[in-house]
Amino acid sequence: MAEETVTTKVLMEEKRVFKPPEDLVKNSNVWQWMKKKGFTDEREMRDWTQKNYVDFWDEMAQTYADWHEPYTQVLDWKPPYAKWFLGGKINVTYNCVDRHAKSWRKNKLAYIGYGEPQGEVWKLTYGDLYREVNKLANGLKSLGVKAGDKVSIYLPMVPQLPIAMLACAKIGAIHSVVFSGFSVGAYAARVEDADSIVSITIDGFYRRGKIVELKKQADEALAKCPKIKHQIVYKRAGNEVPMNTGTWKDVWWHELCANQSSECDPVFVDSEHRLYILYTSGTTGKPKGIEHAQGGYMVGPPQTLHWVFDLKEDDVWWCAADIGWVTGHSYIVYGPLNLGATCVMYEGSPDYPDIGRWWSIIEESGTTVLYTTPTAIRMFMRAGEAWPAKYNLKSLRLLGTVGEPINPEAWIWYRKNIGRDQLQIMDTWWQTETGTFAVSPLPITPLKPGSATLPLPGFGVDVLDDQGDPVPVGSGGNVVQTTPWPAMLRDFYKDPARYMQTYWEFYWKTHPGYYLAGDKGRRDEDGYFFIQGRIDDVLKIAGHRLGNSEVESAAVSHPAVAEAAVIGKPDEVKGEVIIVFACLKEGVKESEELRKELAAHIRKELGPLATPEAIYFVKDVPKTRSGKIMRRVIRSRAMGQDPGDISTLANPEAVEAIPKIV
Ligand code: WT7
Repeated sequence: MAEETVTTKVLMEEKRVFKPPEDLVKNSNVWQWMKKKGFTDEREMRDWTQKNYVDFWDEMAQTYADWHEPYTQVLDWKPPYAKWFLGGKINVTYNCVDRHAKSWRKNKLAYIGYGEPQGEVWKLTYGDLYREVNKLANGLKSLGVKAGDKVSIYLPMVPQLPIAMLACAKIGAIHSVVFSGFSVGAYAARVEDADSIVSITIDGFYRRGKIVELKKQADEALAKCPKIKHQIVYKRAGNEVPMNTGTWKDVWWHELCANQSSECDPVFVDSEHRLYILYTSGTTGKPKGIEHAQGGYMVGPPQTLHWVFDLKEDDVWWCAADIGWVTGHSYIVYGPLNLGATCVMYEGSPDYPDIGRWWSIIEESGTTVLYTTPTAIRMFMRAGEAWPAKYNLKSLRLLGTVGEPINPEAWIWYRKNIGRDQLQIMDTWWQTETGTFAVSPLPITPLKPGSATLPLPGFGVDVLDDQGDPVPVGSGGNVVQTTPWPAMLRDFYKDPARYMQTYWEFYWKTHPGYYLAGDKGRRDEDGYFFIQGRIDDVLKIAGHRLGNSEVESAAVSHPAVAEAAVIGKPDEVKGEVIIVFACLKEGVKESEELRKELAAHIRKELGPLATPEAIYFVKDVPKTRSGKIMRRVIRSRAMGQDPGDISTLANPEAVEAIPKIV
């Protein structure tokens, strides 16, 4: 029996190595750089750039960023705080838009946007982008927005989202984009925490053929945000919306911009000036505001994109993420625009009007490089290979994936059905905090399905045990970053103590300055990384991060719920789905209706992403004597596994009452 299990496991593990074709290697951007530097071996190059990371990033900062005033010091590293390119003055929007609009690229497409309703296409050249960004930047100024002010942006995947971000960056304002799939409660909390004075939203947008009335949600949220003075509303779907004139003033985007000049001088800021705040989920119910800096962002995103996805002038790049997540910030906006690339954007759902929509967009736009998630790939797998086969995908030359570990089966399917059994797949490991890919193949790297391969040039990444010692080959441990990097997070907005505690404290005694990523991983005999998932209580739903405790807080905010415990259950497509165990308040009766109401309540608080797969009513949830919910115990019990020693719990009997859910 034991032997049988071992054999099955080996059979399931994909052992093939996929070598990059010679012409891909020889024409790649990274190879050109290696030739210039005299490197002939990938490992040697990766090792050298890691050992000499300060010099390496210095060179990259000269290559990719246009500095208004040169920096005088590359790095000031006083763990846990790094400052990059000190003394340098820069403007991100100048780098991403102005310099292209003033060159031959002014007529090159920056974005090809597809609305969900078929036939609706928005094309913006760098020249168009320049004018639109400037008008909005001037509009923001007319509302009193200055450098350092915060602007919350609640927009779907329409070109106005990057325009709004770039308009903020142009005048040194700090944007905080909130995913349009998040609901009222999530927007309110993020607007409040960020101290935003302006909100930018849209009347409505399309999702699966229906209009999502986003302004309505924004209004409901802003009612709880007294610091907001103005809201800019883009007219897209034409659904009727009331225009507020109370504590905050609503203004239509087109009216605000109608008489603004299409010229606007960039505000050149210090390299460390904050570019944006992006909220991500941690282990508490309160999301953390990750801060990123302007200077680092004009180095890390373009450099990693240029090397990993090998972007060339005539490439059509489609990063099919939402700009509401870091993937879109770095690789739909700041990285590709810095490079003067053409990006595809799509507003709607991948299955609208049918599950062939993405493939039709690739055919129509001539997409050459596609970057998506394992969840999306597994969804397409389930729909069947006939769908992509109907379309001409020959324009594709490179593929990528991100967000969660990819199972070899999905990897092989992706290569075979989307990549004609020929294309290399860049499995990029990174986080909201890292700002850029950190462990990833290059076009010159031999690939192993399921592995993000090796630390990128200039990155130090290791796997350690809890004591701080490197783990042996094949054993699991904690993924750490051993050296700072330009696009790294700078702090948590208004919460430096939590910043220190979350990432740096764990190895402070043995390795001060080692960054704890929060992932488990192992390396094989070739040093290839295999990421195994989170070590903390963070869920990964379809590649998106959501804290168990965030969902729990949403559940207990329902008047019938006394307490709740949330676990992730493995799911073939989404990676994980949400299971809620809720204890009801005294006297409240369990019912199917209440179950539905609670699911709807959680969805309303957090957004569709947080919709529970199932809700179980229980008498009690297992806790420690100090009151910490024992999610691991609950999970084991629910999954039919041995929950281990539960004698130290405050209420061991609660474990037995947890139903088995598989
Ligand atoms: C977490 C970060 C970074 C863009 C999207 C997610 C997981 C990310 C991979 C990968 C295995 C991955 C990790 C990481 N993750 N990429 N290629 N293989 N796991 O950003 O929401 O900040 O989540 O996503 O667990 O810690 P995020």
